[in-house]
Amino acid sequence: MRIGIIGSGYVGTTVAACLADFGHDVIAVDVDDAVVGRLNDGESSISEPRLDALLDRYAGSSLFATTDYDDLADVDVVFLALPTPTNDDGSIDTAYVEAGAEALGRVLADVEGYPTVVVKSTIVPGTTADLIAPILERESGLRVGTDFGLAVNPEFLREGSAVEDFQQPDKLVFGTNDERALDALETVFAPLLDDVPVVRTGLSEAEMIKYANNAFLAAKISLVNELGNICKEYGVDAYEVADAIGLDDRIGEQFLRSGVGWGGSCFPKDVAALVAAARDRGYDPQLLQAAIDVNDHQPERMLDLLDEHVDVAGERVAVLGLAFGSGTDDVRNSQAIPIIEGLRERGADVIAYDPNRGAVENMRGRFPDVTYLASASPTLSGAAAALVVTDWPAFGALDREFDLMAGDVVIDGRRVVERRDGITYEGLTW
Ligand code: UGA
Repeated sequence: MRIGIIGSGYVGTTVAACLADFGHDVIAVDVDDAVVGRLNDGESSISEPRLDALLDRYAGSSLFATTDYDDLADVDVVFLALPTPTNDDGSIDTAYVEAGAEALGRVLADVEGYPTVVVKSTIVPGTTADLIAPILERESGLRVGTDFGLAVNPEFLREGSAVEDFQQPDKLVFGTNDERALDALETVFAPLLDDVPVVRTGLSEAEMIKYANNAFLAAKISLVNELGNICKEYGVDAYEVADAIGLDDRIGEQFLRSGVGWGGSCFPKDVAALVAAARDRGYDPQLLQAAIDVNDHQPERMLDLLDEHVDVAGERVAVLGLAFGSGTDDVRNSQAIPIIEGLRERGADVIAYDPNRGAVENMRGRFPDVTYLASASPTLSGAAAALVVTDWPAFGALDREFDLMAGDVVIDGRRVVERRDGITYEGLTW
C-alpha cells in the first residue's frame, strides 16, 4: 500500500517507520526541512529505542520524506499525525490539524481512486466530523463517503517503548462508518490482525476512546499516588500495597508505580483537554480534576520531604533525571520542572544530570542557568541532597557515587535507588 503520514513528531515518525516495516511504501510530510532531511538520511529527530534502526533500513527505499504535499498524489491512505497543543484554558489548539487538513484537501482531488484520510491526532469527540471533514471537503471539492474515506485511528504508544507498542499493541481502534475506509485500515494493519483485538466503532467513539484511555491511566496513577501519600503517613510501603492490590484482575498490576507523578506530552494535555471539553458541554468532571490536583501536588510533597531534612539555601542540590520518563529525551511537562523551580525558590544551586543527552539539551532550553553535568558522580559531588525524578534504570546501579555528596539526603521520587549505608534515604510514598 502507498501510505502518506502528515507530521513527523513522536507519533508520525514511529508510525512511518513501523508501516514501512510492514512492507508499505511510506511518504512522510513535514513542514520542517531539517526533520525531513534527517528522515531521508535514515535518522530521527527524536530519541526512541529501535526507531533509528528501522529508519536506517527503509529510508531511501520504501520510506521517503518531503515538505511537499503534492508528493501525496499517489497515496491510498493518508494519516494526519499533527500535534494538538494545549490552550491556556486546557482545551486543544487545533490550528496545526486544520492547516494540515487544508493542505491535504488541496491535493486530495488529484489523488486517484478512493483515498482514505485517517486522523491519528488526539482530538475531542466530534472534531473529525465537524471540523476536519468540512475542511477536507471545502478544499478538495470532494465529498466524504463518496469520493474519499475518513476514519479515526488513535495511537496508544508510550514514549520510550513506542516501536514495541506499535508492533505489539493491546488493541487497534478503527473509527469510521465507511466500509471502504474500514477495508483500507484493515489492509494497512493486516500483519497485526490475527493477534490483536480490533475495535470497530464510530468516529466520535474512537476519538473518545483515546481520551478515556489516557484519563483512566492518569487517574489510576493519581489514585495510587494518593494511596501512597497515605501509606507514607503510616510508614507503610506503598509498593508492597500496590503489588498486592495489583494481583486483583479487576485492578491489574500495571501503572501502579507511585511517586512524583505523571508528565509528558500526553497525560497532562489530554486530561486537561477532556476536563475543558466536558465543562464546555456543561458537565464538571470532579474526579479528573482531582487526578490533576493530586499530580500537581506530588513535586511539592517531594520538596516538603527535602525541607524536613535539610535547608538547601546556598547549597548544591543534585537532580537526577530530567526526562518525563525513562527511555525518552522528552521533557515536556516533566515533573523535574516544578522540582527545579522549587529548588531555585529555596535558593539552592541546582546541578542536574540525565543519561539522555537530548533530555539535557531540551531542559537547558527551559532552564539555561542550571548546571548540567555529564554523569552522576560529578553531579552528586559536594551536593547537600539528591532528588531522583526519572526512573532511569541506571540510577538503580548508583552506590559509591553517593559517598561523594557533602550531605547524605537522597529523596527518591521513583523508587529506583537502593537504600544503602551512608545515606539518609526517603522514598516519596514508602
Ligand atoms: C501515554 C500512554 O501510556 C500511551 O498509551 C499513549 O499513547 C500516550 O500517552 C499518548 O497519548 O500519546 P506516555 O505519556 O508516552 O504514554 O508515557 P507513559 O509511559 O504512559 O508515562 C506517562 C507518565 O506517567 C510518566 O511521567 C511516567 O513516569 C508516569 N507513570 C507511569 C507513573 O508515575 N507511574 C506508573 O505506574 C506509570
